[in-house]
Amino acid sequence: MSSIKQVTVIGAGTMGNGIAHVFAQSGFRVTLVDIHATQLAKAIETIEKNLDRQVGKAVLTEEQKQSALANLATNTDLIKGVANADLVVEAATENVDLKLKLFKQLDEFAPAGALLATNTSSISITRMAAATNRPGSVIGMHFMNPVPVMKLVEIINGYATRKEVTDTIVALSTQLGKLPCVVNDYPGFIANRILMPMINEAICSLYEGVAGVEAIDTIMKTGMAHPMGPLQLADFIGLDVCLSILNVLHEGFGNPKYAPCPLLVNMVTAGKLGVKSGEGFYQYVAGSKELVVSERFR
Ligand code: CAA
Repeated sequence: MSSIKQVTVIGAGTMGNGIAHVFAQSGFRVTLVDIHATQLAKAIETIEKNLDRQVGKAVLTEEQKQSALANLATNTDLIKGVANADLVVEAATENVDLKLKLFKQLDEFAPAGALLATNTSSISITRMAAATNRPGSVIGMHFMNPVPVMKLVEIINGYATRKEVTDTIVALSTQLGKLPCVVNDYPGFIANRILMPMINEAICSLYEGVAGVEAIDTIMKTGMAHPMGPLQLADFIGLDVCLSILNVLHEGFGNPKYAPCPLLVNMVTAGKLGVKSGEGFYQYVAGSKELVVSERFR
């Protein structure tokens, strides 16, 4: 058991609320911080809905759900929100400048002994650590979406991360019922270094007219036993997120094999971001689970 009891999660979007959910469910006191009160209210509503789902599936009892909710607090003020943290997990928007600014603030306002983790999907841990005066206590803790369901936590050692910190985060992830895998800090780490080229290749195959959306996804779903085809998964992750990760790989390695497909660039420019914008390779209607290929690709 680690000495971590109070966890602060920065950012109440999809990943932030999922991370707050799993910590609260595992008995940690959690403060979810976001500058927007409406986003915090929406996150608590989502957590409650997802806890209900777990109660419905008999994964949790009603009592466990109530105790998870009782472990959750929210704050719109970062300084107050991190004041008692043993661990901060940053899950804000994937924007380098924002994250560097946040890590400076976390270093200034979190207790001296607190560990600082980031859920970034591809931004350099070493770079964020260098923005602080405690680079040895900065680490990547990359959860997968949907966080309450997916077992993996990709743990990323920055150049300066201390071994005790890695050991603590590995033990903590196990305490959350997750499977930790430790990797080193190079562009895309492992998860996205392997996933994003596959998604990019699927988009290029569509762009070149090799096959349609349904055929590409069906081949990967039924042929490779993937739960979602790569185009549906890209929509689920967010096409803007996929593009930004591919750009990190492309710039980080300077290798043209990571160049984002022009179709992906166009779709993001046109605001077609997948599930979150209502349209990507598929179109999404709130409340419907039916998978309908976007008109553009029929
Ligand atoms: N909270 C709690 N439970 C949830 C949930 C949530 N947010 N979302 C889904 N579930 C549960 C459901 O209750 C259901 O439980 P049972 O199996 O016990 O019935 C189960 O998850 C499956 O859900 P659904 O029946 O609604 O839907 P599904 O069978 O189509 O599965 C899925 C949904 C789990 C998302 C599945 O399609 C899947 O595994 N997809 C791939 C997900 C993936 O690859 N994620 C990683 C993305 S990459 C990433 O996150 C990192 C990055 O850096 C980009």
